[in-house]
Amino acid sequence: MQVIRSTRAIQRLALKWRRAGHKIGFVPTMGYLHGGHMSLIRRARRAVGPRGKVVVSIYVNPTQFGPNEDLSRYPRDLIGDLRCCRAEGVDAVFAPSDADMYPGAREGLFSTYVVEERLSARLEGASRPGHFRGVTTVVAKLFNLVQPDVAVFGAKDFQQAAVVRRMCADLNFPVRVIVAPTVREPDGLAMSSRNKYLSGRLRIQATVLWRAILKARAAVRRGRGALQAARLRAELKRFIESEPAARVDYIEFVDPLTLKRVLRVSRGTQLLLAVFIGRTRLIDNARL
Ligand code: PAF
Repeated sequence: MQVIRSTRAIQRLALKWRRAGHKIGFVPTMGYLHGGHMSLIRRARRAVGPRGKVVVSIYVNPTQFGPNEDLSRYPRDLIGDLRCCRAEGVDAVFAPSDADMYPGAREGLFSTYVVEERLSARLEGASRPGHFRGVTTVVAKLFNLVQPDVAVFGAKDFQQAAVVRRMCADLNFPVRVIVAPTVREPDGLAMSSRNKYLSGRLRIQATVLWRAILKARAAVRRGRGALQAARLRAELKRFIESEPAARVDYIEFVDPLTLKRVLRVSRGTQLLLAVFIGRTRLIDNARL
């Protein structure tokens, strides 16, 4: 497995692989890899086959964090991550520095960003201004560097996957975006690097996101026909905030394709949740 730190070297390698006829499968990550990432890596391998090359990027992208978010304490473990990637048969890990990814940023020279303007506006975009501008910018840069045929994203970041798909369609990136299912802990908590912040009673209370999803699913099944979104939202908020450390950021019911809010909830509606457990903000989602 090659470990590559420079933008120039990864682009050179990717172009060489492409010229030799290898397909490239790409898994962009911010590191601190867990079972969810492993499933994305396996999905990428399946997509490109044994002759293909799988690249994982490990980069905590500063432009997608707001000023009061957890950039400085975001968990990192490059050595552990490299061990996981090697065990999964990854061909190359790309782990660049900020200076290489954002040349001239310190001097105020870096000034080109990619902005998706419609799907990004609400939900995570409203709660975390600038977040998606950072995501689309870094993903566009990574696509230019890694030259993937296929890129695999996790369904836990439902809106991110929709925004990246839109960006690829709008800007003609020749990349097939695959969205792989969320991987959960045995008690239902969606795997996330941020789960590291949770211990003891906070970790137990964090399962309330999954329990809220199950509750919403049961309500839709029982309700036959459509339920009022406002009423179900209020019920879920009460349920979630009955955990002492939980505070709802948003509970939204949307059309899974347009991400537009729906007023009536029925089978096929997408439920999106963002909840603070103590200081840790968790997101989850499910098709009802
Ligand atoms: O989902 C993530 O880990 C990040 O948003 C991504 C796609 C690697 C971009 O930094």
